[in-house]
Amino acid sequence: MRETQRLDRVLSNFGFGTRSEIRQLVKNGTVKVDGVVVKDSGLQVDPERCVIDIEGEILNYREFIYIMMNKPAGVISATEDNKQKTVLDILPDRFRCFDLFPAGRLDIDTEGLLLLTNDGKLAHELLSPKKHVPKRYYALVDGTVSEDMAESFKEGVILDDGFKTMPAELFILKEGQRSEIELVLHEGKFHQVKRMFEAVGRKVLFLKRIRMGGLELDPELAAGECRELTADEVRMLKFQFT
Ligand code: URA
Repeated sequence: MRETQRLDRVLSNFGFGTRSEIRQLVKNGTVKVDGVVVKDSGLQVDPERCVIDIEGEILNYREFIYIMMNKPAGVISATEDNKQKTVLDILPDRFRCFDLFPAGRLDIDTEGLLLLTNDGKLAHELLSPKKHVPKRYYALVDGTVSEDMAESFKEGVILDDGFKTMPAELFILKEGQRSEIELVLHEGKFHQVKRMFEAVGRKVLFLKRIRMGGLELDPELAAGECRELTADEVRMLKFQFT
């Protein structure tokens, strides 16, 4: 059975105003459903099937939505929090009507690729520890980073709680008093990148996730910006689990 909803509910979810503002818009004859002007804001509509046109703008309703965010530092990867700003707080209004949640976590001071979706199944697959979806990070590290450390990461290092990490690939981009590296992990323990560097006596000064599975952070997105995944990106994400 298809899901129907009141027209005013659909429009308010899309940010077209309060129920009474929407009632007025509808009364004014600015809303068409399947090409016909409607005057009853309580009309039951199927937003996935009906073509809803409001002041000439066609609503693009879809069940699942996939947003790539370049998470900035200073916001947390949660849906709500009493004290800190969350990634949902910084979403543009047009995405607020969807029940989005972040698929995975980045620390408050970590930047970079975060997927927000309402597709629980895909999020579950991406995050499942059994799937070992690789995640690639760029980091600025205090002190030199050597090939010996790359060897240790390949072997697995022991974290502060005694956990031995899975093999990870370390790429040294620039070695110096402050080194630049990329690290690919196949698991996701709490603060894992920072703790792996602590295990070899180094401190991470800046951390940014740049890739998750086949999904690469769009270099056009400034910190805090987001965009919907393209159809190809969604297909590729789903394909990697089939
Ligand atoms: N590893 C970390 O230490 N922090 C993150 O946010 C992600 C991976």
